[in-house]
Amino acid sequence: MLAVAILAAGKGTRMKSKLPKVLHPLGSKSLVERAINSCNLVNPDRQLVIIGYEGDKIQNALNHLQEVEFVEQREQLGTGHAIIQLIHPLENFTGDLIVLNGDVPLLRPETVQNLVKTHQENRNAATLLTANLPNPKGYGRVFCDKNNLVTQIIEDRDCNPLQQQNQRINAGVYCFNWQKLREVLPKLSTNNDQQEYYLTEVVDYLNPVMAKDVDDYLEISGINDRRQLASAYGILQRRIKESWMMAGVTIVDPDSVTIEDTVQLDIDVTIEPQTHLRGNTIIASGCKIGPGCLIENSQLDENINVLYSVISDSKISANTKIGPYAHLRGDVELGENCRVGNFVEIKKSSIGNKTNIAHLSYIGDATLGNQVNVGAGTITANYDGVNKHPTIIGDRTKTGSNSVFVAPVTIGEDVTVAAGSVITHDVPPQSLAIARERQRVIEGWAKKSK
Ligand code: UD1
Ligand code: CA
Repeated sequence: MLAVAILAAGKGTRMKSKLPKVLHPLGSKSLVERAINSCNLVNPDRQLVIIGYEGDKIQNALNHLQEVEFVEQREQLGTGHAIIQLIHPLENFTGDLIVLNGDVPLLRPETVQNLVKTHQENRNAATLLTANLPNPKGYGRVFCDKNNLVTQIIEDRDCNPLQQQNQRINAGVYCFNWQKLREVLPKLSTNNDQQEYYLTEVVDYLNPVMAKDVDDYLEISGINDRRQLASAYGILQRRIKESWMMAGVTIVDPDSVTIEDTVQLDIDVTIEPQTHLRGNTIIASGCKIGPGCLIENSQLDENINVLYSVISDSKISANTKIGPYAHLRGDVELGENCRVGNFVEIKKSSIGNKTNIAHLSYIGDATLGNQVNVGAGTITANYDGVNKHPTIIGDRTKTGSNSVFVAPVTIGEDVTVAAGSVITHDVPPQSLAIARERQRVIEGWAKKSK
């Protein structure tokens, strides 16, 4: 049996925030959710999150993770005190307990898996992740005997100058034999600079305790302030972009691009500078995205070009060209071989194949057929101040420049709408619709008016 406990009861004073520290987002997920996810490979039987400060907020934020149990630590008297709260919920539990700080979001699932493996193969009472840091300041220091077994962990603030020179640090990631840990928890004291119950003190009473160095010390970066949050974001981004480049994606200027770890890309996608891909976005082979794009929760089929545009919650079919300066949002479906751009906004609309909306338009709540040509400055007036209404435009219809469709309205196939028309009634197929004042010319008017 395996249980995981995540320490998330502290306020995180150094963040200087109204939001509890562990709820700060790192890309697509909060710190605490990332900590939970780092145990994905070990299939824990129980997952417990220890909450205290703004615990209900944390509970709400993790609502979608059904397996998670919450344990309250009313007063935050230290990391050891947090684990003491587990004695009751884990009363009948036998097996190993993984403990993670909720503010360690970059841990790889493989690292946790290896920790558990080392722990179980050596039948340790406790095994902890350690790292040799060039700058160990702020972390607890780990001291070992000649057999590489841990004898003591001393917090930075409790170290004397000599001890402070030890660069081997405690990552705050542990695997314990729960029964052995439970027996020694009552021995914890508050005999330290902060007068807190330190979980790290249990190594004084447990035997054997083994330290396992991480290969990549960036993994165990703890987040205490917003500078560390930003640098963790950088580490995460580098990981994501490097893995996509290794998988066959061209990223022209990686430093100017961000890609959330929820995004999926195919081989031979090219990402140009200043482009940001977020959420549940899937981009197929041959697409060229950027420069200057933001795409979230959208699906792009093969060979699409997007230039200086914002796309959210949309589906786009192959070979379509978008931009420069298009905004697609709120459930747009765009067909194959379309062209959309030069200051065009499309909202909640379905657009057929080979349809062009190439200049200065707003299309909202509309259904457009195939091969429609939307003239420059065409607007669907979809909102009457209370409700939204649909506009339907049939195949091969051409809307003149600066035409307005006052919805609800239906335009048939093969219609031509004259430039500058305000269309308030349905138009049957094959017709010409003109809805504007006929031009009058008063000759000699200039002279007369003087
Ligand atoms: C802790 C370790 C330190 C280690 C470092 C790694 C202890 C005493 N020290 O220090 O050796 O190098 O992590 O990042 O354990 N928390 C609670 N309840 C409490 C106190 C804290 O749930 O009463 C939670 C916090 O919300 C946080 C985590 O425990 O998520 C760690 O607490 P923090 O105060 O950040 O510990 P560090 O000083 O970083
Ligand atoms: Ca910390």
